[in-house]
Formats: sequence, structure tokens, C-alpha cells
Amino acid sequence: MRCSLAVATLAIGLAAAARAAAPAAPAAPVRAAADSCLSCHATLKDERLRKPAELATSDIHHAQGITCAGCHGGDPAATDSSAAMDPRKGFVGVFAPRAIPEMCGSCHSNAAYMLRYAPNIPTDQLSQYRTSKHGLALAKGATDVAVCSSCHGAHGVRPPSDARSPVYPTRVVETCARCHADVALMNRYGIKGNEVEEYKKSVHYAALMEKNDLSAPTCKSCHGAHGATPPGVDSVANVCGTCHVSQLEKFDQSPHKDAFAALQQPACEACHSNHAIGQPQDSWIGVADKQVCGACHSAGDAGATAATAISGALASTVAAEASVGARVARVKRAGMLMDAADVKLEDAHQAYIMATVEIHTAIPARVEKQTATALADTSAADKDAAAAEKEIRYRRTGLFVSLVVIAIAMVTLAFKVRSMER
Ligand code: HEC
Ligand code: HEC
Ligand code: HEC
Ligand code: HEC
Ligand code: HEC
Ligand code: HEC
Ligand code: HEC
Ligand code: HEC
Ligand code: HEC
Repeated sequence: MRCSLAVATLAIGLAAAARAAAPAAPAAPVRAAADSCLSCHATLKDERLRKPAELATSDIHHAQGITCAGCHGGDPAATDSSAAMDPRKGFVGVFAPRAIPEMCGSCHSNAAYMLRYAPNIPTDQLSQYRTSKHGLALAKGATDVAVCSSCHGAHGVRPPSDARSPVYPTRVVETCARCHADVALMNRYGIKGNEVEEYKKSVHYAALMEKNDLSAPTCKSCHGAHGATPPGVDSVANVCGTCHVSQLEKFDQSPHKDAFAALQQPACEACHSNHAIGQPQDSWIGVADKQVCGACHSAGDAGATAATAISGALASTVAAEASVGARVARVKRAGMLMDAADVKLEDAHQAYIMATVEIHTAIPARVEKQTATALADTSAADKDAAAAEKEIRYRRTGLFVSLVVIAIAMVTLAFKVRSMER
């Protein structure tokens, strides 16, 4: 056992040495004139041995002229299998999980080498990986954590921008789920293993999959890909805040900022959760069961009083928007042009949205400033609707009067005609 380990280590060492030479290759990579690895493996019956050769056509490494030997070592010029797959030429058959990040990193961490192929690709994957929970566990001997090939595959590797890549935004969730939805595996590490299931209930997942909104966060947006770690309690707000800038700004102005920090409460997560983030509702605000403030405040305290004021302000705006909206719609059905009122209603709705953002300050006056604007706009739209209704009544009266006049005229005319006939 010890002996075979030593051999393996030696082989890995040799492979590393062989690869360390790779960066010294000519600036313009020439496709190996004879790639015996590929040509022989393409003919093998055993699918496990043939598949890598078949996947070469969709592999970015192959496209760049990197042969099988670029990763496995060996001699791609030798046609004889034992000469080609000679451990003395650095050949490594199946990698130990622990050897994989070092192997991929031998090129990907070499800035001078990578620069020649793709100057814009960062070269920090290995160093980040070593700081991740995956990398830390791997270093301690775990063999079931993610290594480079668990996320990217080993053969048929595609750039992350390719929609078929396993790390493309709409596919990465399933890639992480291969392990993270495996409850037995996760429980061994003291992790629930329900994170994927929860995430799939979120507004984020819906935006990603239903609206194809690639700006919605996937696992890697909040945890990092190579440096995958749970954000610490004190960095949750920053993670959410990279996208939800206004909410973070308001939260930072709230009494909660310092209070949560002192209590070791993760900022946004305390009210929104982390994975199953739901569609926010006005009805969340309050201290009753299932309302978010009730987790920490109770009836009568300053927080509960603020919650009542805030939800009251929002409710009056919603009611005004609904009733004025309906009045304007009625007037429109009667044939009146109501463009100006529509604009005012739209402004009112914008102010209402601003008010829901302001709730993050937890300061009622700040919310009420926006709801007051919204109410001013709805009441202006209401005035327009009232004027339009008056106009409709005026027109209807006018129409009635003119109909009566016409009727009288016709009757008179009829009498006139008859008397003339007589
Ligand atoms: C003439 C055919 C032939 C050539 C050339 C050849 N191989 Fe193989 N390869 C095989 C066969 C057959 C096996 C399975 C039996 C074995 O392990 O020797 C194999 C096995 C492998 C394995 C799996 C090892 C394992 O332990 O499961 C890898 C990886 C591999 N080859 C890579 C390469 C690379 C890289 C090259 C070129 C440097 C290469 N092969 C050249 C025929 C070939
Ligand atoms: C980008 C690096 C890379 C390149 C290029 C590469 N391989 Fe591999 N190969 C790996 C890694 C990593 C593994 C281990 C697979 C794993 O753990 O998922 C592997 C595993 C294998 C295996 C064993 C598969 C198994 O399921 O046991 C074979 C056979 C193999 N490679 C053949 C090839 C052949 C043939 C080529 C060229 C057509 C090639 N590889 C090119 C990285 C590479
Ligand atoms: C022999 C050097 C070498 C090794 C070993 C290597 N790569 Fe690469 N890899 C490259 C080069 C060069 C490119 C740049 C291709 C390009 O974008 O033009 C690349 C590109 C990539 C890309 C696409 C990046 C992008 O944004 O376009 C991924 C993903 C990748 N490699 C993953 C891996 C993984 C995973 C391994 C190990 C299993 C690995 N590589 C091993 C040289 C290597
Ligand atoms: C836990 C999964 C995971 C592991 C492990 C992982 N990657 Fe990645 N990798 C990703 C994801 C996801 C992306 C796409 C990142 C993005 O879109 O910002 C990516 C992107 C890349 C890219 C392209 C970077 C770019 O900006 O174009 C390269 C190259 C790469 N990884 C190489 C590696 C190497 C080398 C390793 C091992 C040291 C590794 N990856 C380990 C998930 C992973
Ligand atoms: C090959 C299986 C595998 C894959 C694929 C995988 N992980 Fe992991 N991951 C693990 C294991 C096992 C652990 C537990 C390690 C530990 O805690 O020491 C872990 C731990 C983590 C942790 C730390 C959790 C904690 O509380 O310690 C995060 C965050 C994480 N993974 C994110 C990701 C993301 C994001 C992806 C996809 C881009 C991913 N993982 C893909 C196996 C995997
Ligand atoms: C919107 C951001 C966000 C997204 C998206 C996200 N997470 Fe998390 N995740 C978090 C936060 C925040 C925590 C908790 C950190 C804390 O409280 O310290 C966490 C915790 C975790 C943990 C550790 C749980 C534990 O019990 O220790 C794992 C594992 C994890 N997430 C995996 C995933 C996976 C897999 C995905 C994709 C399906 C994902 N996360 C998507 C924000 C996110
Ligand atoms: C990578 C960017 C990004 C990150 C990080 C992010 N989000 Fe989101 N979030 C989005 C996008 C995109 C939407 C969808 C917007 C839409 O469709 O209305 C969204 C939607 C939401 C919604 C619903 C908003 C609405 O009006 O319907 C809430 C609540 C939310 N996110 C909270 C959070 C929290 C809490 C965190 C941190 C744990 C977080 N987000 C992290 C981008 C992000
Ligand atoms: C004290 C509880 C609480 C905290 C802390 C909190 N939120 Fe909210 N958030 C809410 C409530 C309640 C709503 C619903 C407002 C409404 O629709 O009336 C909401 C709504 C949202 C929305 C939907 C758009 C909007 O503003 O109405 C987003 C996005 C959001 N929050 C993100 C965040 C982010 C990011 C953080 C952290 C910086 C955060 N929230 C912290 C309670 C909270
Ligand atoms: C995770 C716990 C938690 C949640 C959830 C929470 N708060 Fe707080 N809140 C605190 C703490 C702690 C303080 C500071 C200590 C105190 O004054 O009670 C505070 C303070 C306040 C204050 C200032 C009180 C004062 O004395 O000046 C207001 C107002 C407030 N919260 C409103 C709200 C509203 C509204 C909600 C729901 C949208 C909410 N809080 C949700 C924990 C929370």
C-alpha cells in the first residue's frame, strides 16, 4: 500500500514536472502532428476509455491544441500503448482527487502561460479554491468534495459562457445539486442538504429559469465558485447589496444596522431568509404570527409601533391607488382620454415602490414622506377623473337637450307638413 502510494506520488510528481515544462512550449501552440492518445482511444471498445476521445471535439483544450497528454502526461508521439502511457514520461491514468486541482492549476495559475492563449481569463482559481470549504476539506483528506472536474468536467470542457457548460448560470444549480442535494453526503458534514430545494422556491430561481434573467443569483453568486464558502454573518448584507443597492443603503441608515451586528444577526437574511427568498408583501410588516417584525419585536414596543405606522401608510396608498385606478378606468371606458391621470397614477405607484424600499430604514417618517407623495398623485388623478365625469355628465345633458330639440323640431315639422297637405 505504502509502496503503491509512493509510486503514485512519484508519478504525480513526474507528471507535474512534465506539465511544468508545458508553459515553455512555443508561443503558437502547434497541434501535435501525431496524437496517438486520441487516435487509439477513439477506437477502444470500453466506453470509459473511448468517451474522453469522443468529447475532444467539444473541448476547449483540444481546440487550443492541448492533447490528452497536456493533462495526463505521457508521450502522444508514441504509437505503442505502453510507450505512450509510460509513467516515466509523466503519465498519470486516473487522478487521485487531491491531484486534480494541482494538475489543472499547473496551467491555470501560470499567468505567463495563460496570457498566450486567453489574456482575459483570471489565473486565481487554484489559490481561491484552496481557501474554499471544498479545498480546505480536500487538504484534510476528504475525497467527496468538489474538485475542478466535478464542476467543469474533465473532458469536453467548455467556457462558462457556453450555454452547454455545466457552470453556465442556468445549469450551475444542477451541478452543485449533484452533491448538495445529496442529504446523506451533506449530513456527514453537518450540513442540512436542503439548500437546493429551498433555493428552487425562491424569487431568484424563478427569475433565472422563467424569465431567463441571467442577473439573478445562483449558488455561485452568493458563495463564489472557486472560493465557495458561506458568507459570514457580517458579510450577508454586502452579498445581497451587490445587486440590491438601494435596500442595502436604506438598511445601513436603520437602527437595525448596529443592533443586528451586536446580536450577530445576518442582515437581510433575518427577514428574507437566504435560500427560499419569497415575493415580499406589505402584509409582512407587523408583529403578528408570520409577520417579519414579530421575530424580535412585540406589541407595545417601539418597533411594533413603527410597524403599525408603516403598514398603515402603505395600506392607505394601496387603497387610494385601487379606488382611483378603478374610477379612472371607468371614465376611460366611457370614451374619455385620461393620459394625464395615467401618468399621475404611474407616479403614485413609483412613490409607493420607493416607500417599500424606505421600509428598510425602519423609520416611519421616511416611509410616510413617499406615501404622502403617492397620495398627492392619486388625489390629482382623482381630480382629473372627477372633471372627466363632470364632462361626461355635461355631454350627456347636452346630447339629451339636443335630442329633445330635434324631436320637437321634427314633430313641429310633421304637423306643418300635415297642415300643408290639408
Ligand atoms: C495504442 C493504444 C493506446 C494509446 C496510444 C494510448 N492509450 Fe491510453 N489506454 C489504452 C488502453 C487499451 C487502456 C486500458 C488498459 C490500460 O490501462 O492499459 C488505456 C488506458 C488509459 C487511461 C486510463 C487509465 C486507468 O488506469 O484507467 C488513460 C487516462 C489513458 N489511457 C490516457 C492515455 C494518454 C494520455 C495517451 C497518450 C499519451 C494514451 N492513453 C495513449 C490504449 C492506448
Ligand atoms: C483538461 C485535462 C484533461 C485532458 C485534456 C484529458 N483528460 Fe482524461 N481525465 C482528466 C481528469 C481530471 C480525469 C479524472 C476524472 C474525474 O475524476 O472526474 C480524467 C480521466 C480519464 C480517464 C479515466 C476515466 C474514468 O472514468 O475512469 C480516461 C480513460 C481519460 N481521462 C482519457 C483521456 C483521453 C483519451 C484524453 C484525450 C482525448 C484525455 N483524457 C484528456 C483530465 C483530462
Ligand atoms: C496544459 C495546460 C492546461 C491544463 C492542464 C488545463 N487547462 Fe484549462 N485551459 C488551458 C488553456 C490554455 C485554456 C484557454 C483556452 C481559451 O480560452 O482559449 C483553458 C481553458 C479552460 C476553460 C475555459 C475558460 C474560458 O473562460 O474560456 C476551463 C473552464 C478550463 N480550462 C478548465 C480546466 C480544468 C477543469 C482543468 C483540469 C481538469 C484544466 N482546465 C486543465 C490550459 C490548461
Ligand atoms: C464548485 C464548483 C467549481 C470548482 C470546484 C471549480 N470551478 Fe472553475 N468555475 C466554476 C464556475 C461556476 C465558473 C463560472 C464563474 C463565473 O461565471 O463567474 C467557473 C469558471 C472557471 C474558469 C473561467 C474563468 C473566467 O472568468 O473565464 C476557469 C478557467 C476555471 N473555472 C478553472 C477552474 C480550475 C482550474 C479549478 C480547480 C482549481 C476550478 N475551476 C474549480 C465552478 C467551479
Ligand atoms: C463533488 C461534490 C460537490 C459539488 C459538485 C459541490 N460541492 Fe460544495 N461541498 C461539498 C461537500 C462534501 C462539502 C462539505 C465540506 C465541508 O464542510 O468541509 C461542501 C461544502 C460547500 C460549502 C460550505 C458549506 C458549509 O457550511 O461549510 C459551500 C458554500 C459549497 N459547498 C458551495 C458549493 C457550490 C456553490 C457548488 C456549485 C458551484 C458546489 N458547492 C458544488 C461537495 C460538493
Ligand atoms: C441569495 C444568496 C444565496 C444563494 C443564491 C444561495 N445561497 Fe447558500 N447561503 C447563503 C447565505 C446568506 C447562507 C448563510 C450564511 C450564514 O448565515 O452565515 C448560505 C448558506 C449555505 C450553506 C451552508 C448551510 C449550513 O447549514 O451550514 C450551503 C451548503 C449553501 N448555502 C449552499 C447553497 C447552494 C448549493 C446554493 C444553490 C442551490 C445556494 N447556497 C444558493 C446565500 C445564498
Ligand atoms: C447577483 C445579483 C443578486 C444577488 C446577489 C441577490 N439578488 Fe435578490 N434579486 C436579484 C434579481 C435579478 C431579482 C429579480 C428581480 C425581479 O425579477 O423582479 C431579485 C429579486 C429579489 C427579491 C424580490 C424582489 C421583488 O421586488 O420581487 C428579494 C426580496 C431579494 N431578491 C432579496 C435578496 C436577498 C435577501 C439577497 C441576499 C441573501 C439577494 N436578494 C441577493 C438579484 C440578486
Ligand atoms: C427588518 C426586516 C427586513 C430586513 C432586515 C431587510 N428587509 Fe428587505 N423587505 C422587508 C419587507 C417587510 C419587505 C416588503 C416591503 C413591501 O413590499 O411592503 C422587503 C422588501 C424587499 C425587496 C423588494 C423590493 C422592495 O424594496 O420592496 C428587496 C429586493 C429586499 N427587501 C432586499 C433586502 C436586502 C438586500 C436587505 C439587506 C440589505 C433587506 N432586504 C433587509 C423586510 C426586511
Ligand atoms: C432580527 C430581529 C429584528 C427584526 C426581525 C426586526 N427588528 Fe427592529 N430592532 C431589532 C433590534 C435588536 C433593535 C434595537 C433594540 C431595540 O431598540 O429594540 C431594533 C430596533 C428597531 C427600531 C428602533 C426602536 C427604538 O427604540 O428606537 C424600530 C423602529 C424597529 N426596530 C422597527 C422594526 C420593524 C418595522 C421591523 C419589521 C419590518 C423590525 N424592526 C424587525 C431587532 C429586529
